[in-house]
Amino acid sequence: MDELIQASIKIILQNQSESGAYLACPNFPTYHYSWFRDGSFIAYAMTLAGERKSAERFYDWVASTIRARKAVIQRAVFKANMGILLAPVDVLHTRYTAEGEDGTTQEWPNFQLDGFGTWLWAIAEYQKESNEGLAPAWKEAASWIGEYLEALWQHPCYDCWEEYPQEIHTHTLAAIYAGFMALESLGISGYTETAQAVKDYIMQHCVYDGYFVKFPGSYTVDASLLGLAVPYQVVALDDPRMIETVNRIRASLMRGGGVHRYPTDTYYGGGEWVLLTAWLGWYEAMKGDVNLAYERLNWIKSQANKDLELPEQVPASMVDANNYQPWIKRWGEVASPLLWSHAKSMILYHTLDKKNSLSNPVIDGSYR
Ligand code: BGC
Repeated sequence: MDELIQASIKIILQNQSESGAYLACPNFPTYHYSWFRDGSFIAYAMTLAGERKSAERFYDWVASTIRARKAVIQRAVFKANMGILLAPVDVLHTRYTAEGEDGTTQEWPNFQLDGFGTWLWAIAEYQKESNEGLAPAWKEAASWIGEYLEALWQHPCYDCWEEYPQEIHTHTLAAIYAGFMALESLGISGYTETAQAVKDYIMQHCVYDGYFVKFPGSYTVDASLLGLAVPYQVVALDDPRMIETVNRIRASLMRGGGVHRYPTDTYYGGGEWVLLTAWLGWYEAMKGDVNLAYERLNWIKSQANKDLELPEQVPASMVDANNYQPWIKRWGEVASPLLWSHAKSMILYHTLDKKNSLSNPVIDGSYR
C-alpha cells in the first residue's frame, strides 16, 4: 500500500481516543476536539482502508454523545416547531471533547447542522457494507437527529467553515439532504418528502446563472459545493449546474496545484486546503477524469512533511497574505497533521484504486 496511506492510517489510529472520538489535530491546541463532520469522513476513510473497528468505535461514540442530549434535542424541536427563537443553549454543539462534553472554547460559534447529516450519511454507508443489523444505539441516535434536522433545516446556521451564521448554506443543505436519504436507507422512514423539499430549496435558491453558489444571494462558489455531487448526491456528477460549478471552482479557487475554500477567505491568509484538493480529486475520479484526479493526489503527496503528515492548508498563493502572520500569532502554526486532510486523501486514493487505475498510472512516472 502507498506509504502516505499507511502513514495516514497510523496517524488516525494514534489520535483516536479511548472513547472512540477522533481529535481533529493533535498539535494544534484549538483543534483538541472532535467534530462530527471531520470524524464522519475520517471513519468513512478508515472503513475503506479496512479499519472497520476504528470507524465503529467513532460511530458508537457519536451515538452515545447524541443520546446524552435527548433533552436538548426535544427542546430544540419543540421551539423550532413553535416558531420560538433558538438561543445558543438550545442547539446541539458542533465540537466535543473526547469524553463527549460540549466544547467550551469561548467566542467560537457552535451552531452548525452539516455534521449531523454527514454522520447519518456515513453510518448508512457503513451499514451497506456490514452484514449486521443497525445497532439499537445508532438507530435511536439517528432517529433523534432526523427529528432535529427536520425541525431546523431551514434555520440559518454557521457554515462548514464556522462562518456566515446569518445564511442558509448550500453545502449544509446538501449534507442534510444526504442525511434524510440515509435515514430512509437505514429503515427510519418518513423523510422522503423533507429530503425532496431540501432539494427543491437548493434548486430554487442556491443556483445563480447556471451554477451553485455558496448561499442564496451569493454569486461565488465555495469548494465545499463539491459535496452536492460527492458524496451527498443531490445532483449527478454530470449535471450541467454541477459541471459549471466545478469549472468555476477550478477557475477561481485554484492558482497553484491546490484548492482554496472561497474567493475572500482570510483564515491563515486563505491558503490551499489539502482536504479540498482531495475532494476535487474524489469528484474527478468518480466522474472518470482520472488524469486530473492523479494530479490532485500528486500535489497532496508533495505537501506531506518528512513524517508524512498533512497540514490543513498550505500558505502558497494565499488569497490575502496579510492575514497569515496574525493567525500564526493568535493560534500558532497551521494545524498539522489534520486528520480530515489524511482522511480525504485516503478516500481519493481508494476511489482511484477501486477504479483499478493505481496499478496503471496515467501520468507517466509522476505518481509515486
Ligand atoms: C474548519 C472546520 C473543521 C475544523 C476542525 C475549522 O477550521 O473550518 O470545518 O471542522 O477546523 O478541522
